[in-house]
Amino acid sequence: MKPVKLGLIGVGTVGASTALGLKNNALEISRRAGRDIEIVQASRRNIKQGMPTGCESIALTPDPFEVVNNPEVDVVIELIGGYEPALELVLRAIENGKHVVTANKALIALHGNEIFAAAQAQGVNVVFEAAVAGGIPIIKSIREGLSANIIEWLAGIINGTGNFILTEMRDKGRDFDDVLREAQALGYAEADPTFDVEGIDAAHKLCILASLAFGIPLQFDAVYTEGISGVSTEDVVYANQLGYRIKHLGIARRSEKGVEMRVHPTLIPEKRLIANVDGVMNAVLVKGDKLGPSLYYGAGAGADPTASAVIADIIDVARSITTDPQNRVPHLAFQPDQIVELPIVRIDEVTTAYYIRMRVDDKPGVMADITRIMGECQISIEAILQKEPEAGVTQATIIMLTQKIREKQMNEALAGIGKLDSVHGEIHRIRVETLDAD
Ligand code: HSE
Repeated sequence: MKPVKLGLIGVGTVGASTALGLKNNALEISRRAGRDIEIVQASRRNIKQGMPTGCESIALTPDPFEVVNNPEVDVVIELIGGYEPALELVLRAIENGKHVVTANKALIALHGNEIFAAAQAQGVNVVFEAAVAGGIPIIKSIREGLSANIIEWLAGIINGTGNFILTEMRDKGRDFDDVLREAQALGYAEADPTFDVEGIDAAHKLCILASLAFGIPLQFDAVYTEGISGVSTEDVVYANQLGYRIKHLGIARRSEKGVEMRVHPTLIPEKRLIANVDGVMNAVLVKGDKLGPSLYYGAGAGADPTASAVIADIIDVARSITTDPQNRVPHLAFQPDQIVELPIVRIDEVTTAYYIRMRVDDKPGVMADITRIMGECQISIEAILQKEPEAGVTQATIIMLTQKIREKQMNEALAGIGKLDSVHGEIHRIRVETLDAD
């Protein structure tokens, strides 16, 4: 059978690793794909940087449109990231009848509905395993391995930079800014690191996972997003003392009210496996009605792990080229005419437990005032920790864990507590998820 011909757009760290992986593992890859796979043209903005050593024979152009318009190319590999010109390139590739492999989570989260509709109309495939959790085959697992299950919820550590920062804060008591600088130097962080620390990168990935899990359109704007920049070393230490770890989780849950999609710092009991996923590693816990919980763990960022997912997608496309387009694995796991709109549950309506930290006057009656307000808002307290004031200081820190309550009620309680003269500064709140099998 004739080789499958690829056009590679973007020869950065992931692009270079993809080209090298295809070359170095060519024999094994063609045994798996049933045919040879070769890159016939690549584009990179600065062609003076050339192709990686060993791949110099691949034709290089500075113009990515030359690649998507190249009649020889069967499959376009988009690895430049960002919205434009990536969107225009991908749509042009589809229009030209080419399959597309992309690692671009922002592009899929925001423009996936349009891209998949165009691909469907043209009978071509668009695959994006590398867009979520780097090298972990989580998309394939949800779309294919778990297809017998009704997926009830999933929760993931899906930003390596954020996880690296929280891990260093906990293990070494390091400051947030200091660890972020190291994550940037190590190449984990996005070009704009606010995407990592403010949860936007995780929200892109969560929105994709929710669509695959529940068969709903991609709705990035509906994801409640809160970053980790407000998590202090103090919170990390207190959470530890209470038997919890703070992780930045993306959570998607289906309930009778609709679908929750949220990204925020979360306390997780330390005995959960996912609470022990540290450093730049990612993990996604998926609860299906038949399998129960299953955990997918691995490297969520970095050139080789991401290229591993890109090459696996290329092999899938190579295998599927001879398949009837109507019978390919659907882009969003469900058949296109079975994608349904479900109500989205606003964060106000979400029910979780909470960790609360506040600074109060160390005098009689303060705790009574706080617990009275909690009681009036129907909030039941699970645990209280009061740290002794430091010598010469008249204020103390109180930490509380509550039972599950609607966010709206917690907001009311915190507004009331915040008005007490005896409470000082910001009241810190982190949601708690037990992630047990229910
Ligand atoms: N900045 C991302 C992360 C890269 O830290 O996880 C992988 O998407």
